[in-house]
Parts: sequence; C-alpha cells; structure tokens
Amino acid sequence: MVKIGYIVGSLAADSLNRKLAGVLVAQAPERVQMVEVPMAELPLYDRHLDDDFPQAMADFKAQVADVDGLVVVTPEHNQSYPAPVKNAIDILTRGGSSELKGLKMGLVGASPSRFGTINSQAQLRQFLPTQGVHLMGSPTLAVSVGKDTFDDDGGADPTTTSRAKKYMEAFASFVEA
Ligand SMILES: Cc1cc2nc3c(=O)[nH]c(=O)nc-3n(C[C@H](O)[C@H](O)[C@H](O)COP(=O)(O)O)c2cc1C
Repeated sequence: MVKIGYIVGSLAADSLNRKLAGVLVAQAPERVQMVEVPMAELPLYDRHLDDDFPQAMADFKAQVADVDGLVVVTPEHNQSYPAPVKNAIDILTRGGSSELKGLKMGLVGASPSRFGTINSQAQLRQFLPTQGVHLMGSPTLAVSVGKDTFDDDGGADPTTTSRAKKYMEAFASFVEA
C-alpha cells in the first residue's frame, strides 16, 4: 500500500481545486491510500515561532512526514501560487527539520483560465527542487475548467476523469520507484 497525501491550496468552500482533489482520490489506483493533509487552519509562519513551534504546525509536519508522496492541488492567483501554499511550504522547512528533503511531490491544479494553473505550477517547480523535493515531471495536470468539467456529485467529465486517473497511476509508480 502506498500512502499519498494531498494538500488543497484553496480555502474556498466551493473550491474548484477541492473538486479536482476529490476526482484524484476517486481515480487513485487501489493500492493507494489517499489522505488529505489539512492546511486551512495553519497559522501564518513567523520566524519568532521557531523558539516555540505551534502545535498545529508540528502536527502538519508530522502528517507530511507520514506519507510516501504529496500532491499539491493548487489554484493560480495572479500568475503564481496562493499564499496558503507558500505558508505551508515554509512551515515544512522550519521547526527543526525539513519534511521537503527527499519528498516526492506532484503538482496539479484547476482554474477557469485557458491554461489552467501552469504559471502557478511553473513557479513551484522553479524552487521546490532547491529544498530537496523530487518532483514528478510528467504527466502534468493543469485543468482548464469549463461549465461541464465538474458535476454536482463529485465527478468530472470523461477527459478530466481520464487525465486524473493517468496522473494518479503515474504518481503512484513515481512514489514506488
Ligand atoms: C486573487 C485572485 C487572482 C487570480 N489570478 C488568477 C490567475 O492568475 N490565473 C488563473 O488561471 N486564475 C486566476 N484566478 C481565478 C482562479 O483560478 C479562480 O478563482 C479559481 O476558482 C480558484 O480556485 P479555487 O476555486 O480552488 O479557489 C484568480 C483568483 C483570485 C481570487
């Protein structure tokens, strides 16, 4: 069994990225256990917290340490990744250890724009390897959301469903290798 964690980079209740995460969970191979690592309640990182690391941050780090791979499901804000994602990443590098070192990660996202979240992903791709992260190169998954992409029952259109399935199969193999 492979344990794959995922974080959702949007705090919105009706988040497109949370919908995409649901499709990834549904399409993951049977040998994969998918677990959300919640990050919505994380305090904003401040280096003065290093002296007495908040429990919520320590718990978050422990949950990431416990998975074999991590998928970041993130929106794009102003051609970049949103602040909660950066906060989560910075927290993972502090508190006496870095869970990013050697961590296998995947980047996916959904947005209504034509190119999905490729700028957001490209910027994460630029610096995460400097922190020891092993990023899956391909396939990529940047979903350009239209009115029929997601349905009200947690499903997606056939193309998105198929892409999500292929992505999760590839990520499971990447984590196992
Ligand atoms: C501050 C802000 C900036 C945004 N900038 C972009 C952008 O650069 N590219 C993009 O594709 N979508 C952009 N959007 C639209 C988001 O893709 C859209 O709100 C999407 O629903 C966010 O994902 P979520 O539903 O998971 O929160 C932006 C939205 C906000 C609120």
